Amino acid sequence: MIGHDIRNPLQAITSELYIARQSIAETPIKELAGLALESINLIEEQTDYISKIVSDLQDYARPLKPELEEVDITKVIASIFQTVKVPDSIKLVIDLKGFPKIETDLTLIRRALSNLVINAIQAMPEGGTLTINAEKTGRQAIFKIEDTGKGIPEEVKNRLFTPLVTTKAKGQGLGLSVVKRIVEALGGTIMFESKSGKGTKFTIRLPLKE
Ligand SMILES: Nc1ncnc2c1ncn2[C@@H]1O[C@H](COP(=O)(O)OP(=O)(O)O)[C@@H](O)[C@H]1O
Ligand SMILES: [Mg+2]
Repeated sequence: MIGHDIRNPLQAITSELYIARQSIAETPIKELAGLALESINLIEEQTDYISKIVSDLQDYARPLKPELEEVDITKVIASIFQTVKVPDSIKLVIDLKGFPKIETDLTLIRRALSNLVINAIQAMPEGGTLTINAEKTGRQAIFKIEDTGKGIPEEVKNRLFTPLVTTKAKGQGLGLSVVKRIVEALGGTIMFESKSGKGTKFTIRLPLKE
């Protein structure tokens, strides 16, 4: 499968970058080291970006088989922000109201929430507020990801979850179609509300067992 063909060389690049970073740290020529490290950081960022695209393509291409386990959503959200950088201009508000552990697929829920978070950040190039809410009501888990960004362009509203639909110069248009596939594989639903210039809110509802 193509995913593997791309992933193996990516893995090799990542390991080599690690070695390069070590060697540079030991060089006595500090000015050169600074420049080289800067390049390495950029290469790493771009490799992560390729890696993300490959994951989305794979998630889109393969059947999703959720593997349920006890998941601590607080940890999932914390781990998302270890990889996704929030610019200083964006205020992050996380409200989990003592959200309990739930039975779900850790990798899938992480991917879905992180795709929504990335879109929200990208919708606020001038800054704003990103609010993440999780609550459990009865037998449902409800997640809300809200931004105060530009709003969803009218022309994509009715095709938002279709693959390859993007309004971004460097967009892939896979993020939301993957989110929808994941949510449906977990038996849930996703909806959005959006106002031009005001912001967007995505709501995911997942059914829970007793
Ligand atoms: N939070 C958001 N605010 C405004 N527009 C959004 C938001 N999330 C998604 N969109 C719109 O939906 C399109 C598709 O999103 P997505 O499937 O994640 O692909 P991509 O991010 O690669 O463009 C985006 O290009 C953008 O126009
Ligand atoms: Mg996206």
